[in-house]
Amino acid sequence: MKLISDKKELLSHLNSKKVESGTLGLVPTMGALHEGHLSLVQKALAENERIVVTIFVNPTQFNNTEDLKKYPKTLKADLALLEGLSENITVFAPAVEELYNEDIVSKQYSFDGLDKVMEGEFRGGHFNGVATIVEMLFDLIRPDKAYFGEKDFQQLQVVTRLSESLPFKVEVIGCPIVRETNGLAMSSRNSLLSEQMRMKAGLIYRTLKEVKRMFGTENATTISEYVSRVFASEQDMKLEYFQIADVQTLTPMIRKQKNRKYRGFIAVYAEGVRLIDNIAVN
Ligand code: PAJ
Repeated sequence: MKLISDKKELLSHLNSKKVESGTLGLVPTMGALHEGHLSLVQKALAENERIVVTIFVNPTQFNNTEDLKKYPKTLKADLALLEGLSENITVFAPAVEELYNEDIVSKQYSFDGLDKVMEGEFRGGHFNGVATIVEMLFDLIRPDKAYFGEKDFQQLQVVTRLSESLPFKVEVIGCPIVRETNGLAMSSRNSLLSEQMRMKAGLIYRTLKEVKRMFGTENATTISEYVSRVFASEQDMKLEYFQIADVQTLTPMIRKQKNRKYRGFIAVYAEGVRLIDNIAVN
């Protein structure tokens, strides 16, 4: 494994390892790695000759400075986990100054409304920040394939749209959600929960599974009311939003349409920690 924090060194390292054929895979992360991240890395290793994993807590995608400050940083442990998977990984972990100028600001994008709903509505400017860093990494590294988790399904759709707009080709590949044994979607933020809440937060996925079951017979309003009731009776959990949306447009489902695919999307605060999850309902 090779750890690099400098852009120029990364490029010369990648050029020196260039082979005649074979693809380059990219897995962008913010670190505090867990099995969810590792599943992306494993898929990238299986599908490419060379891979780069980036570890960078991107300041422009945080709309809340407290959230940015308390974001877990565990570089040493992250490197050990990656080393355990393969020696053939290049890790790029730059400082903020290496990627941004003095002005740490986002580019402004338009994604046909994909970035305005759900996460975009509750975390103003979030997807401009995500797209800014992802475009920077794509442009710098020029991977053939880039791996993103369905855990952040809206991000996956935004990044897919971004890649379609770029003058070079990057294939964006979505990967399934990895869960803890109680169903809680793995997340770097789970380490901020008390042990008790980490167990209790399995309720989020249990609720989503019930949503999927109800989807066969109930309408969107009835299902949303059910989800609101579940969390209204929890003292230390607060529902931010629940939405059944079309997977392509991410617009809320009003009435089921034939041949459309839908997912249920949820954001919940548990002990003040923001957790998101989603489930395919048809
Ligand atoms: P981060 O939250 O570190 O996640 C990195 C990647 O891992 C994302 O594509 C995310 O969807 C995926 N991932 C996280 N938890 C997962 C799980 N339980 N199962 C499957 N995949 C999972 O997402 C980001 O970082 C950032 O926004 C980034 C894309 C790196 C841009 O800064």
